[in-house]
Amino acid sequence: MADITVIGSNMYELTTFVDRMPVEGETVEAPEFEMGFGGKGANQAIAAARLGSQVNFITMVGRDEFGRQQLENYRSNGISSDGIGIADGSSGVAPIFVDTSGDNRILIVKGANKQLTPAALDDKKDLIKGSKLVVLQQEIALETNYHAIELAEGYGVPVLLNPAPANDDLNIDYVSRVAFFAPNETELATLTGMPTGTLDEIKAAARNLVRRGVGNLIVTMGGKGALWVSADQELLVPAVTVEAVDTTGAGDAFIGSFAHYYTQGEDVPTALGHANRYAAISVTRRGTQKAYPTAAELNDLLLERVQA
Ligand code: RIB
Ligand code: NA
Repeated sequence: MADITVIGSNMYELTTFVDRMPVEGETVEAPEFEMGFGGKGANQAIAAARLGSQVNFITMVGRDEFGRQQLENYRSNGISSDGIGIADGSSGVAPIFVDTSGDNRILIVKGANKQLTPAALDDKKDLIKGSKLVVLQQEIALETNYHAIELAEGYGVPVLLNPAPANDDLNIDYVSRVAFFAPNETELATLTGMPTGTLDEIKAAARNLVRRGVGNLIVTMGGKGALWVSADQELLVPAVTVEAVDTTGAGDAFIGSFAHYYTQGEDVPTALGHANRYAAISVTRRGTQKAYPTAAELNDLLLERVQA
């Protein structure tokens, strides 16, 4: 039985580090290129697994070389293959461009991830049973997520939904059924139609969703930290300030590590503080999953900081 069941996407990343992006018709030389494992679902699963959680990951890889490498990646990170399906066709890929400030531009080609349908999820539904938390994002079909929410409810397992990337078709009725809804500022604006440029605006938009039935809103605000809003309270947990090298997957580092700490029994504020720290470390290193520390590495990093 797993602590956490993540249901979602995986992508094979092709990352180009650019000094500047070309304009139409232009060819520009870029200094570096790297490949790596990504996809919002996979990233969140890997972050939690590296911290020591028992993780089930329900996903679909393609019948190709990238898919084979993905399977090996999960195996070597202690994630069982029980939840992983192999679909005909190509694996999901993500061409990514990272600029000199560490900011990214991402394209996703969903490939096999499109075949994680509600019916495909049914084949794996037993894995959800007995988990402490189901974690969802939005790089698979919304219908599959709705089905996941229904299945989790049936098993009495709480759900954390991270509505990334933003999708204004998301049905609010389902949102009100999850234990944790964790958008960033942009996703919150997309869903509520309200401005989220200032902290007060973010709070007002979050309150709007809580009034519509969401139990716990966690708004991730990158370098500004995380805001937790529920019916009876509001708490801002500040971020750790770091020098950004590559912010790709920082949101996933946050969600996956929060899921880990929360299911290990930490209270929400403590889990949010730890998740801020984990995400901050990930932006100081290149790449997505390759930037996520293990529990042992994290201890060493924190020790170094105390000794410095
Ligand atoms: O959230 C970041 C992720 O989005 C990357 O890993 C990329 O692959 C895309 O899925
Ligand atoms: Na990174």
